Amino acid sequence: MDFMELCLKRQSCRDFADRPVEHDKLVKCLEAARLAPSGCNSQPWSFVVVEDPKIVPEVARCSQQLGINAYISGARAFAVVLEEHAVLMPALRKIIDSQYFARGDLGAAVVTFCYAAEAQGLGTCILGIYDREKMGELLNIPIDKKFGGLIAIGYPAADKTRPKSRKPLEEIARFV
Ligand SMILES: Cc1cc2nc3c(=O)[nH]c(=O)nc-3n(C[C@H](O)[C@H](O)[C@H](O)COP(=O)(O)O)c2cc1C
Repeated sequence: MDFMELCLKRQSCRDFADRPVEHDKLVKCLEAARLAPSGCNSQPWSFVVVEDPKIVPEVARCSQQLGINAYISGARAFAVVLEEHAVLMPALRKIIDSQYFARGDLGAAVVTFCYAAEAQGLGTCILGIYDREKMGELLNIPIDKKFGGLIAIGYPAADKTRPKSRKPLEEIARFV
């Protein structure tokens, strides 16, 4: 698939089919995510991929605490992206904190994961709101670990692409 086509096709999936996600496809998403760029190539990320059908619904519940994200109950897997310590070049370490680039790096990994999923016919939805404490307890993630994102994964129930609602190009970019 052409990359622009992939960009138009990827969308937040909020209606998942009753179909399991193949383990190999999840591995491929991870393989792609680890190729994402990062500041000083520090790769300050790690992933906990939840595919055990007994644990998946419990992860879903962690992101539904405000009465939102009800549709997430249909997801068949989740990827929790965690922030790890970044080792920057010695010259940079003198002027910026080691985690200065980490949030952006994690965003790049999350999005790369989502595009890899889309390219394999999977749907994803990035979730920003979840109970970190509950999730930590459930997945045995140390309390001091920073979360970089949660991705719900499954096959989309329908093969329907919504039109994108985005700011016009002229509003967000200029050439000089
Ligand atoms: C950091 C972040 C947090 C998000 N959190 C949620 C969420 O909690 N629930 C949800 O349904 N969508 C969530 N989304 C999805 C956005 O609403 C969605 O990406 C945006 O509306 C654009 O739509 P599209 O992904 O279908 O192109 C989140 C996206 C990002 C990047």
